Amino acid sequence: MTDIVWHQHEIDQAARGRQKNQNPVLLWFTGLSGSGKSTLAGALEHALFEAGFHTYLLDGDNVRHGLCKDLGFSLEDRDENLRRVGEVAKLMVDAGLVVLSAFISPTRAERERVRRLFPEGQFIEVFVSTPLSVCESRDPKGLYAKARNGEIANFTGISSPYEAPEAAELTIDTSKGELATQVQALVDYLTAIQVID
Ligand code: PPS
Repeated sequence: MTDIVWHQHEIDQAARGRQKNQNPVLLWFTGLSGSGKSTLAGALEHALFEAGFHTYLLDGDNVRHGLCKDLGFSLEDRDENLRRVGEVAKLMVDAGLVVLSAFISPTRAERERVRRLFPEGQFIEVFVSTPLSVCESRDPKGLYAKARNGEIANFTGISSPYEAPEAAELTIDTSKGELATQVQALVDYLTAIQVID
């Protein structure tokens, strides 16, 4: 790496953001499987897109079909999954986009490592705090049932740890209240911190 020098291009992140009339950020949704990360991030992206903003949603299930298809669910593989996603998200933020990501991202250390890729204020952690009992009763893909009877190893919340954030910018429990209200709270937050206007 010592012979590789960063090339500063003329069109920078601020210029790309200005052209899109927004301040680029990364909204990092973290929470258990079935907590509602993808639903919430998808609904927020829809609202932003409809309002004319430029967005991209990185989703765990989708990224694991391509960029991270070689990775499983050991803690080492999850680290590598999130390292790659963090770097991709950084490029997308640099492109001037409002980036949303929906990954379990179970450890504080991984999430902090992604946060450190960004300047202060540009990484916004959204803790989807829906309790395990609710996630398990939803079990949309039948994975909790499989984890309970030993068909899936290292399942988050059952046989692999989840460390809840201690200082997330936002916390949303999708077992309480309406999706539309939760999306509006996110839009209001992004407006208050002048990501969008
Ligand atoms: S991680 O921990 O951030 O690397 O996980 P992520 O890339 O978000 O992938 C989570 C989705 O993979 C499915 N799945 C599992 N989740 C947790 N533990 C195990 N062992 C596992 N095996 C498969 C599951 O459908 C997760 O999707 P979501 O949308 O979170 O329910």
